[in-house]
Amino acid sequence: MPWNPSDRLLTAKPEVRTGMVAIRLEEPRDAAEIRDLLEACFPGYGEADLVDALRSDGDVVLSLSAEDEGVVVGYIAFSRLRVEGEDGSAQAVALAPLAVYTEYQQQGIATRLVREGHACLAAMGETLSLVLGEPNYYSRFGYSHRRAAYFESEYQSPYLMALSFGAAPWEGRLVYPQAFAALDDAALQADDRV
Ligand SMILES: CC(C)(COP(=O)(O)OP(=O)(O)OC[C@H]1O[C@@H](n2cnc3c(N)ncnc32)[C@H](O)[C@@H]1OP(=O)(O)O)[C@@H](O)C(=O)NCCC(=O)NCCS
Repeated sequence: MPWNPSDRLLTAKPEVRTGMVAIRLEEPRDAAEIRDLLEACFPGYGEADLVDALRSDGDVVLSLSAEDEGVVVGYIAFSRLRVEGEDGSAQAVALAPLAVYTEYQQQGIATRLVREGHACLAAMGETLSLVLGEPNYYSRFGYSHRRAAYFESEYQSPYLMALSFGAAPWEGRLVYPQAFAALDDAALQADDRV
């Protein structure tokens, strides 16, 4: 019988749901649970498909799972983004997606995923992260539109924000991984989901 994480979450006792959640690197065995999580947290299948495509394209730079009692309850991915400028191309990362099961929200799990992610990225020598998201949320981690405002991108808007951990470009054309193109199409179709 297929395992359904939603059943597991709904039947978990409160003390289990608020128990010790570990943040760790994504492991291959997490893939199905991450897909379930992303399908539960976002409308449509776009984000789940995005992660599958980023993985198969080899574009994931860093991905972390939040695990409680052997179940993935939160997830963050950073994928390879290029900044193409007049003097050549620089590497950066795109934060997407970030998700935590409703039952586990408001406990700081996403905050831990983001902060652990940034610490790992800095240790890996990455210097620039971009995110397209809610300014009121991502500003708490240091992301700002001001840092992203001069980049050329089809996503350019007040929701495009950046955070640098070191020397990084301020200008140039953002080239997202190929998988993001499909995400845009999926977002348009999300309303058709039954
Ligand atoms: C956004 C999300 C990852 C936050 O997870 P979480 O573990 O509850 O986050 P934390 O506990 O670390 O932080 C909670 C805080 O984030 C705030 N927050 C959550 N979603 C927000 C949003 N869309 N806009 C602004 N603030 C938001 C909460 O109000 C709370 O604020 P407080 O600390 O002032 O009380 C989770 O709500 C989620 O998975 N949502 C659905 C998927 C999604 O929208 N992902 C983000 C894509 S950009």
